[in-house]
Amino acid sequence: MAIISHKLKIILIDHMLIYFLLAVYIIFLLLCVIFSVSILIGLIMTGGVPFVSTPRYDLEKICEAAELKPGEKIFDLGCGKANLLTVAAKKFGAAGTGYELSLWPYFWGKLRVKLLRADVKLKMQDFLKADLSQADVIFCYLFPEVMDKLENKFQKELRPGARVVSYTFKLPNIQPAKTVLGREKKNWFDRCLRTKGIIYVYQF
Ligand SMILES: C[S@@+](CC[C@H](N)C(=O)[O-])C[C@H]1O[C@@H](n2cnc3c(N)ncnc32)[C@H](O)[C@@H]1O
Repeated sequence: MAIISHKLKIILIDHMLIYFLLAVYIIFLLLCVIFSVSILIGLIMTGGVPFVSTPRYDLEKICEAAELKPGEKIFDLGCGKANLLTVAAKKFGAAGTGYELSLWPYFWGKLRVKLLRADVKLKMQDFLKADLSQADVIFCYLFPEVMDKLENKFQKELRPGARVVSYTFKLPNIQPAKTVLGREKKNWFDRCLRTKGIIYVYQF
């Protein structure tokens, strides 16, 4: 009798272990599916602009190039996980607003902002429909096709004295007031597109 109950226990433990591993595997697969679908939906909603973070080593350089001052309002159009905005808020004393349409960078950004207690507001909104008239500084790291649309919007909405800082991609028809070379090291995005990490600063 004792031997039978011992064997039963071993079988039960084996089964429980198998079910546990199966549950972990299914949860992992589900997370992968949610992650991939959210990236796909993000790409569809943004017209193919992928989520790629500005390299960390260029974040302060971008704020310096913009001559960002304490109390100024900085908007990041397509803010990803709010890397630039948290540096702008924590190290330069600026007030950040970010627009993001992709689900997981948006929630990741929300969490980072909360944990870092940064003066940053994130909005799940298309920046092409946002009112930019209150911005002192606009930051963008986007795609050439979007820069075309944004140029018109900037000319209509930005107040005189506002600055636009664009990482890697230029505005098509306006000359930058200055260009600053980011560090030579490139991320995969820059390597694929054969671009340099140039920071373009425009004065409106
Ligand atoms: C190259 S990433 C830059 C992320 C972030 N600004 C950074 O520098 O770390 C571009 C981001 O813009 C977002 N995006 C593209 N078009 C958008 C739109 N119309 N409205 C809001 N977000 C948009 C994408 O989802 C993506 O996360």
